[in-house]
Amino acid sequence: MNRIRMAVVGVGHLGKEHARVLSSFADVDLVGIVDVNYQHAKVIADRCRTTAFDNHEDLFDQVDAVSIAAPTLYHHAIARSFLERGIPVLVEKPITTTLAQADELVEIAASQNLPFQVGHIERFNPAFEELTRKPLTPKLIESERHGPFTGRSTDIGAVLDLMIHDLDLILSLVRSPVRDVYALGAQVFGGHEDIVNARLTFENGCVASVTASRISPRPKRKLRVWAPEGYAGIDFVEKRLTLVQPSDEVRRYGLSQRQLDPNRREQLKQDVFGKHMETLELDCVRDHDQLTAELRHFVGCVRSGRMPRVTGEDGRDALALADRILASVQRHHWDGTVDGPVGPKAMPPAEGKLFEPDQEEGRDAA
Ligand SMILES: NC(=O)c1ccc[n+]([C@@H]2O[C@H](COP(=O)([O-])OP(=O)(O)OC[C@H]3O[C@@H](n4cnc5c(N)ncnc54)[C@H](O)[C@@H]3O)[C@@H](O)[C@H]2O)c1
Repeated sequence: MNRIRMAVVGVGHLGKEHARVLSSFADVDLVGIVDVNYQHAKVIADRCRTTAFDNHEDLFDQVDAVSIAAPTLYHHAIARSFLERGIPVLVEKPITTTLAQADELVEIAASQNLPFQVGHIERFNPAFEELTRKPLTPKLIESERHGPFTGRSTDIGAVLDLMIHDLDLILSLVRSPVRDVYALGAQVFGGHEDIVNARLTFENGCVASVTASRISPRPKRKLRVWAPEGYAGIDFVEKRLTLVQPSDEVRRYGLSQRQLDPNRREQLKQDVFGKHMETLELDCVRDHDQLTAELRHFVGCVRSGRMPRVTGEDGRDALALADRILASVQRHHWDGTVDGPVGPKAMPPAEGKLFEPDQEEGRDAA
């Protein structure tokens, strides 16, 4: 196989970026852009010097692989039609709308040994890649993913829109089945939950607290991991990894401040980080972006036939966990009584105001 013939199906907010990146790869021939909105497909196709289509079926005989960034509702039907013809697929996250659909896609891909990748792009964040090279046995994880209200992806809520990224990352780090899920969430603007917190307990004893919000004034994407080996913190926006580990001396002899006299105790306060707890800040910015890395990886899998870093099974497992979280959100009792308000749409009425609007100036919202 020389140049790999590819197409992008769905060229909205994200798909147009897939098209831009793929059209820049020397070893890819972007043979088509598909969108049900043909006028829009034409604009993107012209920009990428390729042909516009309004039906993905027209490309079955023309492509070696495909990238699907249509709305989630259509992932299953479009991905299935390509996989059934033996064509490798990269499908955006979440893999599908239902688990049964995800299972079907995984099975079709597996039966033909086809590369089938799911677009959990944070796995290609260089700070996360760096973390996965470290020996880490997570025991407590905290993740926060806050985004501004965009008005997009209103067919799904914050769990499938945002939190699913962290669910995939956490599952890939912990590698143990989730035993218990407790979650609560509130709907603020749309028909789905906009802010959610979930507490997950894994069979290996690890606990994770996962928060996602799509109504925050400022973006924030962080993951913190506490483990016997030390602490790891990722700022996904800054692409920075912070590592803290006990010094060799502390590992060997421990550190008890009770045995210290007041002067040495005072000194300890200043020496904790650096001397006793060694700290390393890694700036992981690379010269390529995550989407380029993700698509480059997929193209490499298509070329070599090897299985992708984020498989269909991974996408399916993240969706399965998201479903459990959504079910738990629906069961949350806001006032602790059996008859009281339940679920994301039923937060009790406010008892008062936090401030008057004229106090708003100069505020610094979290
Ligand atoms: N990995 C990420 O970080 C990330 C970020 C944003 C969106 N997404 C996912 O990407 C997908 C697309 O999201 P978006 O924000 O780009 O949506 P969007 O609405 O901006 O774009 C979707 C495009 O698909 C087209 N479309 C609809 N049905 C189609 C069909 N049957 N065939 C071809 N084209 C069709 C629409 O006309 C539109 O242009 C969603 O599944 C979303 O969850 C992933």
